[in-house]
Amino acid sequence: MKQKVIDTINFQIKAEEESSRLYFAMANWCELNGFAGSAAYLYEHANEERMHMVKLVKYLNERGAQAKTKSLEEPQNEWDSLKDVFKGVLVHEEKVTELINNLYEICLNEKDYLTSNFLQWYIQEQVEEEASARSVLDQLELASTSQGGFFHFDKEMKIMAATAASNPLSE
Ligand code: FEO
Repeated sequence: MKQKVIDTINFQIKAEEESSRLYFAMANWCELNGFAGSAAYLYEHANEERMHMVKLVKYLNERGAQAKTKSLEEPQNEWDSLKDVFKGVLVHEEKVTELINNLYEICLNEKDYLTSNFLQWYIQEQVEEEASARSVLDQLELASTSQGGFFHFDKEMKIMAATAASNPLSE
Protein backbone atom coordinates (compact mmCIF):
# COMPACT_ATOMS: atom_id res chain seq x y z
CA MET A 1 0.00 0.00 0.00
CA LYS A 2 1.12 3.57 -0.65
CA GLN A 3 2.22 5.44 2.48
CA LYS A 4 -0.20 8.32 1.76
CA VAL A 5 -3.16 5.92 1.83
CA ILE A 6 -1.90 4.26 5.04
CA ASP A 7 -1.42 7.64 6.74
CA THR A 8 -4.87 8.86 5.74
CA ILE A 9 -6.52 5.65 6.95
CA ASN A 10 -4.67 6.06 10.24
CA PHE A 11 -6.03 9.61 10.46
CA GLN A 12 -9.53 8.19 9.84
CA ILE A 13 -9.00 5.57 12.57
CA LYS A 14 -8.36 8.41 15.01
CA ALA A 15 -11.39 10.34 13.68
CA GLU A 16 -13.70 7.33 14.19
CA GLU A 17 -12.44 6.82 17.74
CA GLU A 18 -12.96 10.52 18.46
CA SER A 19 -16.50 10.22 17.05
CA SER A 20 -17.10 7.37 19.48
CA ARG A 21 -15.87 9.48 22.39
CA LEU A 22 -17.96 12.50 21.32
CA TYR A 23 -21.15 10.40 21.23
CA PHE A 24 -20.17 8.81 24.53
CA ALA A 25 -19.83 12.31 26.07
CA MET A 26 -23.21 13.28 24.57
CA ALA A 27 -24.76 10.12 26.05
CA ASN A 28 -23.34 11.01 29.48
CA TRP A 29 -24.84 14.50 29.22
CA CYS A 30 -28.26 13.10 28.21
CA GLU A 31 -28.25 10.59 31.06
CA LEU A 32 -27.38 13.30 33.56
CA ASN A 33 -30.12 15.59 32.23
CA GLY A 34 -32.98 13.08 32.37
CA PHE A 35 -33.05 11.89 28.75
CA ALA A 36 -32.48 8.16 29.28
CA GLY A 37 -33.71 7.13 25.80
CA SER A 38 -31.48 9.64 24.04
CA ALA A 39 -28.59 8.45 26.23
CA ALA A 40 -29.21 4.81 25.21
CA TYR A 41 -29.31 5.85 21.54
CA LEU A 42 -26.04 7.76 21.81
CA TYR A 43 -24.27 5.02 23.82
CA GLU A 44 -25.21 2.66 21.00
CA HIS A 45 -23.98 5.16 18.42
CA ALA A 46 -20.68 5.41 20.32
CA ASN A 47 -20.33 1.60 20.06
CA GLU A 48 -20.98 1.76 16.31
CA GLU A 49 -18.26 4.37 15.82
CA ARG A 50 -15.83 2.16 17.68
CA MET A 51 -16.75 -0.65 15.29
CA HIS A 52 -16.03 1.71 12.35
CA MET A 53 -12.57 2.28 13.85
CA VAL A 54 -11.88 -1.45 14.36
CA LYS A 55 -12.98 -2.26 10.81
CA LEU A 56 -10.33 0.15 9.45
CA VAL A 57 -7.66 -1.30 11.77
CA LYS A 58 -8.44 -4.83 10.60
CA TYR A 59 -8.33 -3.72 6.97
CA LEU A 60 -4.82 -2.29 7.39
CA ASN A 61 -3.73 -5.50 9.16
CA GLU A 62 -5.12 -7.60 6.34
CA ARG A 63 -3.12 -5.59 3.83
CA GLY A 64 0.08 -5.91 5.88
CA ALA A 65 0.21 -2.21 6.82
CA GLN A 66 0.51 -0.82 10.34
CA ALA A 67 -2.53 0.63 12.08
CA LYS A 68 -1.58 3.23 14.69
CA THR A 69 -3.25 3.94 18.01
CA LYS A 70 -2.90 7.69 18.33
CA SER A 71 -3.60 10.12 21.18
CA LEU A 72 -7.07 11.65 21.08
CA GLU A 73 -8.56 15.13 21.51
CA GLU A 74 -10.86 15.72 24.47
CA PRO A 75 -14.44 15.87 23.14
CA GLN A 76 -17.01 18.56 23.91
CA ASN A 77 -18.68 17.71 27.23
CA GLU A 78 -21.31 20.44 27.69
CA TRP A 79 -24.39 21.36 25.63
CA ASP A 80 -27.13 23.96 26.10
CA SER A 81 -30.05 21.67 25.27
CA LEU A 82 -31.06 18.31 23.80
CA LYS A 83 -31.50 20.02 20.44
CA ASP A 84 -27.98 21.37 20.72
CA VAL A 85 -26.73 17.78 21.25
CA PHE A 86 -28.46 16.40 18.16
CA LYS A 87 -27.48 19.40 16.02
CA GLY A 88 -23.94 18.50 17.06
CA VAL A 89 -24.44 14.94 15.80
CA LEU A 90 -25.43 16.17 12.32
CA VAL A 91 -22.56 18.68 12.10
CA HIS A 92 -20.15 15.96 13.18
CA GLU A 93 -21.43 13.41 10.66
CA GLU A 94 -21.12 16.00 7.86
CA LYS A 95 -17.47 16.46 8.85
CA VAL A 96 -16.90 12.67 8.82
CA THR A 97 -18.44 12.50 5.34
CA GLU A 98 -15.90 15.07 4.14
CA LEU A 99 -13.09 12.99 5.62
CA ILE A 100 -14.33 9.80 3.95
CA ASN A 101 -14.70 11.61 0.61
CA ASN A 102 -11.17 12.94 0.94
CA LEU A 103 -9.83 9.46 1.76
CA TYR A 104 -11.67 8.02 -1.23
CA GLU A 105 -10.22 10.68 -3.52
CA ILE A 106 -6.69 9.95 -2.28
CA CYS A 107 -7.19 6.23 -3.00
CA LEU A 108 -8.31 7.00 -6.55
CA ASN A 109 -5.36 9.37 -7.12
CA GLU A 110 -2.98 6.72 -5.78
CA LYS A 111 -4.67 4.03 -7.92
CA ASP A 112 -5.46 1.95 -4.82
CA TYR A 113 -8.61 0.34 -6.20
CA LEU A 114 -8.83 -2.32 -3.48
CA THR A 115 -9.09 0.34 -0.79
CA SER A 116 -11.53 2.40 -2.90
CA ASN A 117 -13.71 -0.69 -3.08
CA PHE A 118 -13.42 -1.29 0.68
CA LEU A 119 -14.46 2.34 1.32
CA GLN A 120 -17.79 1.89 -0.46
CA TRP A 121 -19.18 0.55 2.82
CA TYR A 122 -18.19 3.79 4.62
CA ILE A 123 -19.64 5.97 1.86
CA GLN A 124 -23.00 4.22 2.14
CA GLU A 125 -22.80 4.38 5.94
CA GLN A 126 -22.37 8.17 5.78
CA VAL A 127 -25.49 8.51 3.62
CA GLU A 128 -27.43 6.59 6.28
CA GLU A 129 -25.89 8.36 9.26
CA GLU A 130 -26.56 11.84 7.87
CA ALA A 131 -30.14 10.87 6.99
CA SER A 132 -30.67 9.45 10.46
CA ALA A 133 -29.25 12.59 12.15
CA ARG A 134 -31.59 14.81 10.06
CA SER A 135 -34.58 12.64 10.86
CA VAL A 136 -33.85 12.77 14.61
CA LEU A 137 -33.58 16.58 14.42
CA ASP A 138 -36.93 16.76 12.58
CA GLN A 139 -38.56 14.63 15.28
CA LEU A 140 -37.05 16.86 17.94
CA GLU A 141 -38.43 19.94 16.19
CA LEU A 142 -41.91 18.40 16.22
CA ALA A 143 -41.51 17.39 19.86
CA SER A 144 -40.80 20.98 20.84
CA THR A 145 -44.23 22.07 19.55
CA SER A 146 -46.40 19.77 21.68
CA GLN A 147 -46.93 19.23 25.37
CA GLY A 148 -45.04 16.15 26.54
CA GLY A 149 -43.27 16.10 23.19
CA PHE A 150 -39.80 15.63 24.65
CA PHE A 151 -41.04 12.74 26.78
CA HIS A 152 -42.36 10.94 23.69
CA PHE A 153 -39.27 11.80 21.69
CA ASP A 154 -37.06 10.29 24.37
CA LYS A 155 -39.18 7.12 24.48
CA GLU A 156 -38.81 6.83 20.70
CA MET A 157 -35.03 7.15 21.02
CA LYS A 158 -35.01 4.26 23.48
CA ILE A 159 -36.80 2.07 20.93
CA MET A 160 -34.33 3.13 18.20
CA ALA A 161 -31.40 2.28 20.50
CA ALA A 162 -32.83 -1.20 21.21
CA THR A 163 -33.41 -1.81 17.48
CA ALA A 164 -29.85 -0.78 16.60
CA ALA A 165 -28.37 -2.90 19.42
CA SER A 166 -30.29 -5.99 18.28
CA ASN A 167 -29.19 -5.54 14.66
CA PRO A 168 -25.39 -5.11 14.65
CA LEU A 169 -25.30 -5.72 10.86
CA SER A 170 -27.00 -2.33 10.42
CA GLU A 171 -23.89 -0.59 11.81
FE1 FEO B 1 -18.15 6.53 11.57
FE2 FEO B 1 -20.70 8.21 12.12
O1 FEO B 1 -19.18 7.94 11.14
